[in-house]
Amino acid sequence: MPLSKVSVGAIMLLALAGVNPAGAAANDGDVVPEHPTFTRDVLPILQRSCQVCHRPDMFTPMSLLTYEEVRPWARSIKQRVEARVMPPWFADRTVGRYRDDPSLSDAEISTIGRWVDQGAPRGNPADAPAAVAWPAVDTWYHGEKPDLVVTSPPVVVPPNSIETYPEPEMETGLTEDRYVKWIQVMPGESRVVHHVLVYAVRDSEDGADDGGPRGVRELLANRARGDFVGDWFEDGYARLLRKDDRIRLQLHYLPDDERSFTDRTSVGFKFYPPGYEPDYVVRTRAVSNRHDLIIPPGEPNARSDAYFTLLEPTRIISFQPHMHYRGKAMTLEAIRPDAGRPELLADVNRFAWDWQPTYVYETPLTLPAGTVMHVTAYHDNSAANRVNPDPTAAVGWGQRTIDEMNIGWLDYFHISEEEYAALQAEE
Ligand code: HEC
Repeated sequence: MPLSKVSVGAIMLLALAGVNPAGAAANDGDVVPEHPTFTRDVLPILQRSCQVCHRPDMFTPMSLLTYEEVRPWARSIKQRVEARVMPPWFADRTVGRYRDDPSLSDAEISTIGRWVDQGAPRGNPADAPAAVAWPAVDTWYHGEKPDLVVTSPPVVVPPNSIETYPEPEMETGLTEDRYVKWIQVMPGESRVVHHVLVYAVRDSEDGADDGGPRGVRELLANRARGDFVGDWFEDGYARLLRKDDRIRLQLHYLPDDERSFTDRTSVGFKFYPPGYEPDYVVRTRAVSNRHDLIIPPGEPNARSDAYFTLLEPTRIISFQPHMHYRGKAMTLEAIRPDAGRPELLADVNRFAWDWQPTYVYETPLTLPAGTVMHVTAYHDNSAANRVNPDPTAAVGWGQRTIDEMNIGWLDYFHISEEEYAALQAEE
């Protein structure tokens, strides 16, 4: 596995080696125990898929580390996992294989359901796997101090207020272009920081069509709730931060019910040494037809299509759908020059606006030059969409959450024709 955009699950898998070594989608054990117990059957599932968010001092309503903590929530857990709203992960499990996929197999869901129906017994304490040693939320995960820390101005988030999305922009002070080894977002107040997008913004660039009036932007990182690892790259892989780039954060705050918070969120960058030349530069591209996104009033399934042609052989690292309240589903397809029909690469069929996970492929996908990437977005502007602010409005592209977007973000890097041929030969 050459390349890494590692998230939380990776540590979980390390921590759990021997408990649930299969990991990710391979976690599809299809055996449902006759009499499941907490210690033997349920706790390993919670460790793998839930505790990263459900532990003390996090933004979640409860911790799910111990039997005492879990027991009162048993019914609610059953209901949430059966509805597949927990853990938050909305890609069809049968399309593509994703790194650190936390989603539960049908057998795991049945195990939890049966355990709850049988009274949620504790079981034998000796069956319990070792507790996971979760790292603290506010440490630079990779151990070393970053070379550059960019911090937002203070933002006051009053209790019971509406969601806000300030977008402060900061200078980096860099005097030369630098290749980035890792990026980590460090929220000041995790309770209210829902997610953070980190953009490099520059004035102009050929061929970029996602700039808008405030400059061309490249998405450098996207921190969803529960991600405290950030993005990092193995040696040879890097992102480029140019000396004149400004850093723009999109800070999405969800206010607390009772307390006021003043947040200052930081982003840490670790660079390769000056002069280092990576083998591959990871890029991010917004695939979107922003100019003709039109969603009629009341329409339950407004479809829009966007395309992006790969001019060189390319490996796709990840896919991240971005839409707002009316977002419903998004698919990613590849139309190879030599194939008769499109190939489905991802099917995020239950998009939920307030969760925006990035789907990182277990192995980057390899595609030939000339492949057309096809993103199809579906929006639900009907009254049946419970978060729809106004089903009578015709909606188009815009920054506000009440406007819409239809972006499929792709992280990718180019390879040579020779590398492409070699990878084909391996398959
Ligand atoms: C990425 C973070 C994250 C992960 C992973 C996660 N949760 Fe949650 N969970 C949340 C947040 C945030 C909430 C509160 C907001 C909401 O209800 O959506 C929540 C709410 C819940 C609730 C409802 C609590 C209530 O107030 O009624 C249950 C039950 C739950 N989670 C169970 C689980 C289980 C079981 C798993 C693993 C199978 C899991 N969660 C994985 C973040 C997470």
